Amino acid sequence: MEEIRIFKDMTQLAEYAVLKWAEISRAEVKTKGYFSVALSGGRTPGAFYKKLAGQKDFPWGQTHVFMVDERFVPYDSEENNYHMINMALLRHLDIPPKNIHPILTTETTAETSAERYEKDIISYCKSVRTNQPRFDLILLGIGEDGHTASLFPGAPTLKETGRLAVAVHSQDQSKRERITLTFPVINNAQHVYFMAEGAGKAAIIKEVVEVKNQRLPAVMVSPYEGKLVFLLDHSAASLIPGKMIQT
Ligand code: 6PG
Repeated sequence: MEEIRIFKDMTQLAEYAVLKWAEISRAEVKTKGYFSVALSGGRTPGAFYKKLAGQKDFPWGQTHVFMVDERFVPYDSEENNYHMINMALLRHLDIPPKNIHPILTTETTAETSAERYEKDIISYCKSVRTNQPRFDLILLGIGEDGHTASLFPGAPTLKETGRLAVAVHSQDQSKRERITLTFPVINNAQHVYFMAEGAGKAAIIKEVVEVKNQRLPAVMVSPYEGKLVFLLDHSAASLIPGKMIQT
């Protein structure tokens, strides 16, 4: 199931995403007692996280928060996703600390950091009595090269089928070493929401939603049973043919 929604600006997009979060989290807490979500870094979700931080009556006590990916940099670094998400969102909310699952970069290598994160996910799965992580919601961004999470075009990590989280190395130093969730986890989610903003993303959004170029990691996001939703601002959606748009 796939849906594309276009918004006038990021304020409206963020308002809609907050409503969906409310709907999904309340429904999941009602049926199974908790709600689990994995969040991305990047610039795009900033306005959304700030708006979400003001929603004090959501079921935060039953919410489990995971990270989609992380750069292997110290927590204090501006490039650390957990730092950004903590500052914009988590520290404003009453989420029990044990429900917050950062990808810790205090390990000596990105590999050991990924292994530690995987163990954390596995013990969370045991605590909620599931064999495989099945996040209720995963929030993703898209890079201009079609990457999503820290899954980059052509990388060996795209073929990963066994591990839940892996280390990512790149020749390009500016990309940093990273740790990322893998496709088996992302595609097992109940709801996957992409967010994209700005004219710089228009060409890649066309490749992803219309051309569906299968080599692009963002196209490889295809939930097994869950729902896939694209939340786009007008500029990011400007090259998508009108007939494809459902709002
Ligand atoms: C990260 C994510 C990455 C991001 C895209 C889009 O940066 O933490 O790994 O996948 O979502 O690169 O980034 P922007 O939102 O900054 O455009």
